[in-house]
Amino acid sequence: MNDPEIYRLEQERIFQGPVWNYLCLEVELPQPGSFRTTRVGETPVIVTRDKDGSIHALVNRCSHKGAMLCLEACGHTKAFTCVYHAWTYDLTGQLAGVAFQQGINGKGGMPPEFDRAQHGLRRLRVASCCGVVFGTFSETVEDLESYLGPAMTAHFRRVFHKPVEVLGYHHQAMNNNWKLYMENSRDPYHASILHTFFATFKLNRLTMDGGITVEHGGWHTMNFSKGATMRQGEYEGTGIRSVVEDVGLADSSLLARRQEFDDGITIAIQSIFPGCVHQQIYNTLALRQIVPQALDRSELHWTLFGYKDDDPELRQMRLTQANLIGPAGYVSMEDGSVGEYVQRAIGGVSRDACSVMEMGGSEIASTTGSRATEATLRGFWTGYRELMGF
Ligand SMILES: [Fe+2]
Repeated sequence: MNDPEIYRLEQERIFQGPVWNYLCLEVELPQPGSFRTTRVGETPVIVTRDKDGSIHALVNRCSHKGAMLCLEACGHTKAFTCVYHAWTYDLTGQLAGVAFQQGINGKGGMPPEFDRAQHGLRRLRVASCCGVVFGTFSETVEDLESYLGPAMTAHFRRVFHKPVEVLGYHHQAMNNNWKLYMENSRDPYHASILHTFFATFKLNRLTMDGGITVEHGGWHTMNFSKGATMRQGEYEGTGIRSVVEDVGLADSSLLARRQEFDDGITIAIQSIFPGCVHQQIYNTLALRQIVPQALDRSELHWTLFGYKDDDPELRQMRLTQANLIGPAGYVSMEDGSVGEYVQRAIGGVSRDACSVMEMGGSEIASTTGSRATEATLRGFWTGYRELMGF
């Protein structure tokens, strides 16, 4: 968390390594010429829909001087032109034009052997699962569905079972290394201890039925709970600060919810290695993406969505419940703080210092019945060490 050389290697071995990185939703590219910008690790990327409907992912960096080519978050265009010297690229990343390529009055310009075909934008391989678009720099990584595995693919199918619509975006600034958030999102143990709102209003407690699912040797994980199965008693009187007795909400509409899935699951947090989180928290649906910015700084990008055919009452529930999550959310505000508490405390630790990750033993396996486990975190670090060669 404190070593600049490791941070640099992560960009190369993890984000540009044999993984599939979340890019965007297909629905964000509604027509030919639609584009959206994002990041893969620190690398800026443009995702486009070409004239024939195909999706492309291109490094957002002009081949000439390395300037950022597209400065907008999303939009519609026929081509991308760099503001610096007007080099122009088509929707597939081919270099289509170079300003003054022939010079002025036959003088200057590029040499005759300059071949535009050799100077296109760097491209990523692209694949979609249920309308969720992923990209990779790797030529060797397996196809997307094999990478995700059957259980993770099944969960995408569960949520993306009909057309979706983007409802909005959050960006959450975090003063911590990106991996601290990757631990946090996978961690079912902390949720009802750190988050007062979850425990007090009985939205998520370890005394509900639930479990964890691991895939790809633990690289990808999901933890889930079923709100209707909560047992009383085990939190009360424990002194856990997140359980506040005798409080209520002046406006209880925040807790209004509808059971949408017939499996009874009310919270499902799916983490896809390395940096993607897919969430269903009651009626809020979202993709989250970690964007490392520096050794001790990262940003979390949220895309909130609902279904195209939501009735007005359900749509309002999704929007109201969106106050549970995001930078100022009643729940996830704390996730932005605890990472920083760790980052602030580990300055000066020796290289062989370590944390404890023994809840649930040493196994990395799917379980039902208990979420008092850190198997999901052990899974993340297994993938990390494998790619980093540690
Ligand atoms: Fe949390």
